[in-house]
Amino acid sequence: MTNGDISYLTIALPKGKLFDPAATMLKELGLTCENLQENSRKLVLVNETEKIKFIIVKTADLPTYVEYGAADIGIIGKDVLVEEAKDVYELLDLKFGFCRLMVAVPADRQRENLSDYANQRVATKFTRTTDSYFRQQGMQMEIIKLNGSIELAPIVGLSELIVDLVETGRTLKENNLVEIAQVSTATARLIANRVSFKMKLGRITEIVEGLRRIVESRE
Ligand code: PRP
Repeated sequence: MTNGDISYLTIALPKGKLFDPAATMLKELGLTCENLQENSRKLVLVNETEKIKFIIVKTADLPTYVEYGAADIGIIGKDVLVEEAKDVYELLDLKFGFCRLMVAVPADRQRENLSDYANQRVATKFTRTTDSYFRQQGMQMEIIKLNGSIELAPIVGLSELIVDLVETGRTLKENNLVEIAQVSTATARLIANRVSFKMKLGRITEIVEGLRRIVESRE
């Protein structure tokens, strides 16, 4: 476990839709940094005054950085947290970034029951979650791992179904796909490395309490 210089707190932020709301929420607590942008070419951004380092990482990798202590804390969607199943503490539901993990199919190939799709191919980024979901339904499926633009798969015949995140529903609609079942729902979570949580308890607790106040004030 590498937790780096103990006087610094390293925060991992995810690229993508959660970056802006996560950075904004932390900024309200004074946890920010010059040039903190999602597409920064600089991989580590340091605020020397506050003794904070930020790293900006791909969402699926974020729990790994936190598990190994390369980041002390991080913000990530519950969907990714469940999928990656890393050994980290989940400290707080930040209640933004609400989305649903859905099973979807082309509208013109919709059938009556989920079980009608047994043994077919499902494209997804969330292979572990998808596998466990269909097992619970008593369905054996062929799961195809993709890394993005999942909605393309059934359109070009790569799969019959997809399991993917739906936020506004716009991507499904624009690609003539319809939701047929819900796998789970998710929001952004604050997570921590287990060793860091003990070593930097004071700082991390202060952040948890500060973020909790912000979350409550927004409700
Ligand atoms: C996510 C998700 C859907 C889309 C859903 O993709 O995988 O494609 O957002 O959002 P909507 O319901 O508001 O249309 P993202 O933009 O993160 O990129 P990806 O396709 O590379 O996963």
